[in-house]
Amino acid sequence: MRTIAHLSDLHFGKINLEVVEALLFDLDLLRPSLVVISGDLVQRARRCHFRAASAFLERLPAPWLVVPGNHDIPAYNLIARFIAPFHNYKHYITKDLNPFIMDDEIAILGINTARSFILNFAHGRINHNQISRIEAAFHAIPPSIFKVVVTHHPFLPPPGINGKSLLGRARLALPALESCGVDLLLAGHLHRGFSGDIAEHHQQVERSILVAHAATATSTRLRNEPNSYNFITIASPHVIFEERAWTGNKFSTSERTTYSRSHHRWLIIGD
Ligand SMILES: [Fe+2]
Ligand SMILES: [Fe+2]
Repeated sequence: MRTIAHLSDLHFGKINLEVVEALLFDLDLLRPSLVVISGDLVQRARRCHFRAASAFLERLPAPWLVVPGNHDIPAYNLIARFIAPFHNYKHYITKDLNPFIMDDEIAILGINTARSFILNFAHGRINHNQISRIEAAFHAIPPSIFKVVVTHHPFLPPPGINGKSLLGRARLALPALESCGVDLLLAGHLHRGFSGDIAEHHQQVERSILVAHAATATSTRLRNEPNSYNFITIASPHVIFEERAWTGNKFSTSERTTYSRSHHRWLIIGD
């Protein structure tokens, strides 16, 4: 069994400090096997914002895997944005923009979908090299190992949001995700928490792939829902998604969904 605390959109520089402390307390209590952060660690890609994000990472009670988001690239300093967009991210967070970790139960690959170019700045993009990287990372790994891809920008729209806010070239990556047996996609960016199946939107995918989006864990950039994160338990053949939401004085489970794998499908067996 493995447990993942899936956080996203921390936005250091625009955070609620009380929520940050409560989140660290909650993680300390639940002790996940791994913390995954799907981008937007900071609000404005300034050094002081990244220093605060880095201090947060040092306090996490588990190993972590992080990918950048669009806010981790300078927005207004155009020289920095186009010449060295990840300079501060690499200096304060990690030099590895496409991290990969694996043990005998789980393999997780992060893909950097944040782009400097104006057309893709908000929505991000995945490119051919990154799709090849997904295939190379997973194709030889047996189905018994649970495979996860982490991006900042989403492959699946949350309920009630149209597909225009999806990752650029998402459809191009779907055959690779399907053929190399990816089980779960983790993302953020829209500040909306939910879990689902990619086949709900992309009917061309025949094998189901689970999707979980995390809302903003710590920021005040709320979009009609409280700060929250996902606590995911992977205990084959089951996967349990728990949304841990801020209640005003602590994080607690607001929603729980259990999926069970049946051949090529993930079926909901309980809430
Ligand atoms: Fe964000
Ligand atoms: Fe974002």
